[in-house]
Amino acid sequence: MTAQSSPAIGFGIDIGGSGIKGAPVDLTTGEFTEKRVRIPTPDPSTPKAVAATVAQLVGQFDLPSTTPIGLTFPAPIKHGVVPFIANLDKSWKGVDVPALMSEALGRPVSGVNDADAAGVAEAVFGAAKGVPGVVLLTTLGTGIGSALIVDGTLVPNTELGHLEIDGDDAEHRASDAARGAEDLSWKDWAERLQRFYDTVEMLFSPDLLVVGGGVSKKHEKFLPLLTTTAPIVPAQLRNTAGIVGAAYLAAHGHS
Ligand code: BGC
Repeated sequence: MTAQSSPAIGFGIDIGGSGIKGAPVDLTTGEFTEKRVRIPTPDPSTPKAVAATVAQLVGQFDLPSTTPIGLTFPAPIKHGVVPFIANLDKSWKGVDVPALMSEALGRPVSGVNDADAAGVAEAVFGAAKGVPGVVLLTTLGTGIGSALIVDGTLVPNTELGHLEIDGDDAEHRASDAARGAEDLSWKDWAERLQRFYDTVEMLFSPDLLVVGGGVSKKHEKFLPLLTTTAPIVPAQLRNTAGIVGAAYLAAHGHS
């Protein structure tokens, strides 16, 4: 993927379990052109409530009608529609996210899985820029997200956080939320991550593993404890990756 031939500015929105964040993005550099705005995710996080919050967020910016808008969502998005959802209100199942949000904003909005957006951002602007072959990005947060990028092209909705490992959903044992909930030491958490990355390496033989999510700020605490065949590196865009990837994909015709 390249950053060429895109409009100058796009707007990205990142819908998460605790916050909904948005910012305009310079599509040639991948940097925010204005300060990011964050509004807490409504509880319950129903489609109607989240759409109203997204409209409130976008209303805080003076966006030309030509600015492409993209959003990330913490579930797979298959041709717009959410087939299942782990970490937001269950009523999202079956909802067409771009259609709902386009109606709420009165203009076209594209939608993409949060980890897929982060993977695209890293492939265009960050740790996976120009890397040939198979790149696997994982985000470690409330859940575990994954993005598979092959020679710069995204294979969407891989959902590796829901691999069943040792009889359990991988993200139940190895997400950053599990580390917090069970008060795991870095060493104990790294043992669980090792099981996860051993499994994904066995299945995908990646050339590069990129680790994102908020905890990637503290990568020196746990990445050195892991042994992987492929190099494993922290994401470069950290928490901005979702917003940047969503804006980039919206500008490149993703629906
Ligand atoms: C969801 C994924 C998402 C990940 C991170 C998982 O529970 O199924 O779609 O990418 O959490 O938010």
